[in-house]
Amino acid sequence: MSDSFAVQAPDGVDESRRTWIAITCGAGAIGGVAAAVPFVESFAPSERAKAAGAPVEVDIADLKPGELKTVEWRGQPVWIIRRTPEMIAGLAKDEAELADPQSKRNPDDLTPPYARNRDRSIKPEVFVAVGICTHLGCSPNPRFAAGAQPSLPADWPGGFLCPCHGSTFDLAGRVFKNKPAPDNLRVPPHSYISATRLRIGEDKA
Ligand code: FES
Repeated sequence: MSDSFAVQAPDGVDESRRTWIAITCGAGAIGGVAAAVPFVESFAPSERAKAAGAPVEVDIADLKPGELKTVEWRGQPVWIIRRTPEMIAGLAKDEAELADPQSKRNPDDLTPPYARNRDRSIKPEVFVAVGICTHLGCSPNPRFAAGAQPSLPADWPGGFLCPCHGSTFDLAGRVFKNKPAPDNLRVPPHSYISATRLRIGEDKA
């Protein structure tokens, strides 16, 4: 995806409102998994650079299997998840339930070429996604544990639940069928600077 990447606000929702909605709805998500989801501040570029949409770098050396980190890029939460082997294996099992399992919808906006695979990632174990629902811009909550739990089906494979209108996404950000969200979560442009350091917002380092 090019540097012109931007979350497409739904009709009638301007960018400032979408951001506000995302922050409001996301507060519960971040707070609910605070122990495993440190908000990374050390990456922070200057305020001027952030406003201009500069790429941000994040060290993922300390990201343990099953954990999620959130960084801010262009005012949006971007998730970095280190998937376990079980999480990766599960992506092959839920495809019949997904609306767009092969990420064919709006690929130029939603899925960079290097993430057009089942895992929607460069490396299967590291998933990067913009944490904003493609329905009306709330921030979905991580629900990584599989199995029955409130607001989710008994055969829940693990993924994300948007608290606003109930859209669900798998651990590659692929939306489940018959949900309000029309599309998979966006994979932002990103690249590896080293084995343990990512640059969010730029395809190539
Ligand atoms: S904003 Fe996520 S389901 Fe409506």
